[in-house]
Amino acid sequence: MTRCIYLDTAATAKKPSSVTGALDHFYREEYATVHRAIYASAARATERYNQVRAQVQHFLGANSPDEIIFTKGTTEGINLVASSFGKAFIHRGDEVIISEMEHHSNIVPWQLLCQERGAILKFIPIDANGELILDAFEQLLTDKTRIVSIAHIANSTGTINPIEKIIALSHAKGAKVLIDGAQAAAYMPVDVCALDADFYVFSGHKAYGPTGIGILYGKKALLQQMPPYQGGGDMIEEVTLTESTYQDPPLRFEAGTPPIAEVIGLGAALAFIEGIGRKEIAAHGKKLLEQATKRLSSIPGLRIIGTAKNKGPILSFTVEGAHPLDIGTLLDLRGFAVRTGHLCAQPTLRHFGVTALTRISFGVYNTPEEVDLFADALEEVLRILASK
Ligand SMILES: Cc1ncc(COP(=O)(O)O)c(C=O)c1O
Repeated sequence: MTRCIYLDTAATAKKPSSVTGALDHFYREEYATVHRAIYASAARATERYNQVRAQVQHFLGANSPDEIIFTKGTTEGINLVASSFGKAFIHRGDEVIISEMEHHSNIVPWQLLCQERGAILKFIPIDANGELILDAFEQLLTDKTRIVSIAHIANSTGTINPIEKIIALSHAKGAKVLIDGAQAAAYMPVDVCALDADFYVFSGHKAYGPTGIGILYGKKALLQQMPPYQGGGDMIEEVTLTESTYQDPPLRFEAGTPPIAEVIGLGAALAFIEGIGRKEIAAHGKKLLEQATKRLSSIPGLRIIGTAKNKGPILSFTVEGAHPLDIGTLLDLRGFAVRTGHLCAQPTLRHFGVTALTRISFGVYNTPEEVDLFADALEEVLRILASK
C-alpha cells in the first residue's frame, strides 16, 4: 500500500479500531431499533443508546442527559438552534452576532434566519493575527442582541477564541450564546456548565467517531421553550389528524428513527478520547503545531494565515507564486493528505486577502516524524513549482 500521512483531521478524523469494532459488533450481533419495540434486542439497543446520551452529558459537563440532543452533526445542530430558537425568540429588528472567522455552517443558517425574521446579522471583526477584536464585540452587543454564535476553535486559522469572556459579555447584555465546538470538543477539555454556554455543538466524525452523528447541548430551560425543528415519529406525545402534542426535550428534537449505530460508535469514540485524555490530546497537538510552525516559518515566501497566541492543531498557509491546488496535488503524489481551497471559510480568507489556502491539521495519531517528513516534502514540492 502506498504511504499516506494523514494531515486533515480538522476535516474529519480517522477512526480507531474500537470505533469500527463497536459499529461492526452492533450491526452483526446486536442490531435492533430503539424506543419502539418490546423485544429483548430492542430493549438492549435502547439501553446502550441511552447510555451514550449519559456519556455525552459527562463528556461535556452538562447537568442532565435531557440536555443532550443527537443530531447529524455540527451543521444540523446550528441549523436546529437557528430555526427553533429563532422561532421562539427572534423577531423583526432583533440582532444576531457571529464573527468574521466562522465556518460557513455558522454563517448561512443565521443569514437564512435573519432574512426570514427580519433580524439583523452583525459580525465581530478579526485582526491581522486572526483574533477576535473584543472591544468591537462590546460595541456590537446591544439590548436587541438575542444570540451570539462563535467557533470555539476556528477551522481556517486555528484560533482558540476566549469563549468564557464572550459568554460573560453576552450574558451581561441578556444574549444567549452558541459555541461551535466542531474543532474543539475532541481536542481540549470542555465543561459547558463552567463556561455557562447556552448551546454547544459538535460532530462525531471529527471526534474519531462515525459520520452522520453530532451533538447539540442546550440548557434545559431553553430547550423546553423551543418548538420542534422537524416533525415525525418519536418526537410526539399524541397525534390526531389535525394536531399533535410533543415530547419534552431531547426527544422533541429527534424526529424519526435515530442514527442508532452511529450513536453507539460515538460512545466508543468518546471512550477512546477519554482513554487518552483531552489535556494530553491538546498537549500533543500543541507540540506538533509548534514544530510545524517553526519548520514552515523558515520557508521563503510562506505566509502563515492565523498567528493567534492561542491556537488549536491547525496550520494554514500560502506560498508566494505557488497555488494551493498545485501544492496539494504534488503533496498527494508523495503520500500526504492535506486540505486545500477555501476551507468553508470564504469570509475569513477574504479578510486575509486570499482565495485559497493549504491547511494541515493534526490528530492523536500524528507524530513529530510525520511533521518533519511533511516539511521536507513541502520544500521539495515548492522547489519543483518554482522551477516551472
Ligand atoms: C468550526 C466548524 N464548524 C462547523 C463545521 C461543520 O461540521 P459538519 O460538516 O461536521 O457539520 C466544521 C467542519 O469543518 C467546522 O470546522
